[in-house]
Parts: sequence; structure tokens; C-alpha cells
Amino acid sequence: MVYQLRHMPCGWRAGSVKRRICGSIHWTERANRLTCILAVANQKGGVGKTTTSLNLAAALALRKHRTLLIDLDPQANATIALLNPADIQTSMFDVLNGGDGGMAKVIVPTKEPNLSLAPARLALAKLEQNLAAQFDAPFKLKDALAPVAKDFDYIVLDTPPALGILTVNALVAATHLLVPIQAAYFAIEGTDDLLDTYARIRARPNPALKVLGVVITLFDKRTNIARDTHEQIRSVFGDTLFRTRISKNVRLEESPAYKQSIFAYAPKSPGAEEYRKLAQEVVQRVQADRVAHHSQDAA
Ligand SMILES: Nc1ncnc2c1ncn2[C@@H]1O[C@H](COP(=O)(O)OP(=O)(O)O)[C@@H](O)[C@H]1O
Ligand SMILES: [Mg+2]
Repeated sequence: MVYQLRHMPCGWRAGSVKRRICGSIHWTERANRLTCILAVANQKGGVGKTTTSLNLAAALALRKHRTLLIDLDPQANATIALLNPADIQTSMFDVLNGGDGGMAKVIVPTKEPNLSLAPARLALAKLEQNLAAQFDAPFKLKDALAPVAKDFDYIVLDTPPALGILTVNALVAATHLLVPIQAAYFAIEGTDDLLDTYARIRARPNPALKVLGVVITLFDKRTNIARDTHEQIRSVFGDTLFRTRISKNVRLEESPAYKQSIFAYAPKSPGAEEYRKLAQEVVQRVQADRVAHHSQDAA
């Protein structure tokens, strides 16, 4: 029996979603122009944010782009997937909490070529409290990135499963937003609040922010629910949806335990192939966006 999705989750209207994710782009900062700062966000946990941040960053690095992965999740899963926690001296907590040295002191190289990491640690969870009384709290990451952004072609921000101050910092600092959505029932529902936050951030602190795309993750083609959900996501997001889907693949689950990206751990696996294709689409969309900005500026 085909599992039917009877109705869209509450609050979802394709028209309103399209209005929220489209619209003109105003690049106000030429300095950041050549660096794509990509926030990977979805307030739901377990949807593949960290797996996507890590392997997309590694795929971009393999394409010879100078890439920085910034871990903004207190759970530090991306950090632990690449480094031994005992080797971490300073973390994003120190940067965002106003410690000395800024980003330059925190960024470390990884074993993966062209890939650097700005690690997280559990202390990040305290940040919400520490920044509460500071009027510039949402701008901490943006300010911290300003001196180092030019050293990278891509900066990928892995965010926590909440729309708190860390995710807001990511969205204020980012040029683009990438939303992983798990192909599962109620998958879209959680993104409603994310898109509201996105719209509010575009309205004030970061009008240049743009949705680069939505990617389906943890896709299991054997199930009807996954196929139905895919159709539903496609009807809501249209062309914003990346053509590449990330399937469920056990190698993607295993690779963090070996402190490797999927390309080092299982380069021939379907997971590696799909993240390679996603990186190609990401690069194409970012380049198309730049061409659009050039023509806007020239007009
Ligand atoms: N495509 C995939 N195939 C198999 N397991 C996956 C895949 N993507 C993520 N996982 C696993 O699912 C869990 C949640 O993924 P994760 O990337 O940590 O999500 P999030 O960062 O959104 O919480 C992790 O155990 C991860 O290894
Ligand atoms: Mg995560």
C-alpha cells in the first residue's frame, strides 16, 4: 500500500515559502564577495546537518577550494569527527565570548587537504547566557570572520539544532543558507520556523543572505514514505531543491568514528559520490549567483 501524505504540515503554503526564499539580493560587502559563507541549518536534530557540513566542506576542499569548517554546535560532533578533543586548546567559544586572538588563534589544519577547522566544545552552550546582555550578540561571528574570510573560498558553518544565538550568529555572518531536510514524515514542519528566522534576518541584519538550496538527506529509496516526502518537498521548494539527494549510507555513519571524511574513509561509496555531486551543484549555484551580482552591479 502506498503511504499517502494527506495534508501539508500546518502553516505551509507553497506560495508563501517561495516568497520567503526568493527575492532580490543586495551585496553590501565587497570584502566578503569572493568567500561563500554557507550556514547549514535546520532546527531539527538528526537531519544530517553535521554529516553534510563535514562532507560538503571536505568535497569543496578536494575541489581545491580553500575551505574552513566552523563548528558552532556545543555537541561538537563535527570537531570530534576530525580531531582528538584532547588536542583542542581554544574553540569557537573563546572567539564568540570575546577572548584574545580571535579566529586566527582557533583555526587548525585537518588531515584532509585544503580543509581547516574551527572547533567547538561544550562550553558553547554557555554562550546564550553570556551574550544575553550584549547588544551586538548576533554580530559576534560576523565580526570575528571579517579578518580571516579572505583566506578562504568557502566557509561552512555547522549549526546546533535550535534557533538560538549560535544559529542567529551563523545566519547573520553567512552569505548563503543550505537546509538539509530528512526525507521523513513531518520533515518540512521544522523548517517553517527556520524560514521565519531567515526572513527576519534578511529584513534587518543581513539583507544579502540567500537560500542556496535545500538538500534531501537520509533518503531511503526502498520506502514509500521517503518517495512521498521527496515529492512533497519538491512541490514546496521547487528549484531551490538540489538535484542531488543524499541516501542513507552506513559508510557516512561510520566515517566520523575513524576521524575521516567520507572521501578518506570510503571514497567509492555512494555517500562519497553523492556529496561530490552536491559540492558540484553548490559551486555551480554560488558561481551563478556571482554572475547575477556582477550584472546587477553593472546595470
Ligand atoms: N546519509 C546518511 N546515511 C546514514 N547515516 C547518516 C546519514 N546522514 C547522517 N547520518 C547519521 O545520522 C545521525 C544524525 O546525523 P547528523 O549529521 O549528526 O545530524 P544533525 O547534525 O542534523 O543532528 C548521525 O549518527 C549520522 O552519522
Ligand atoms: Mg549536528
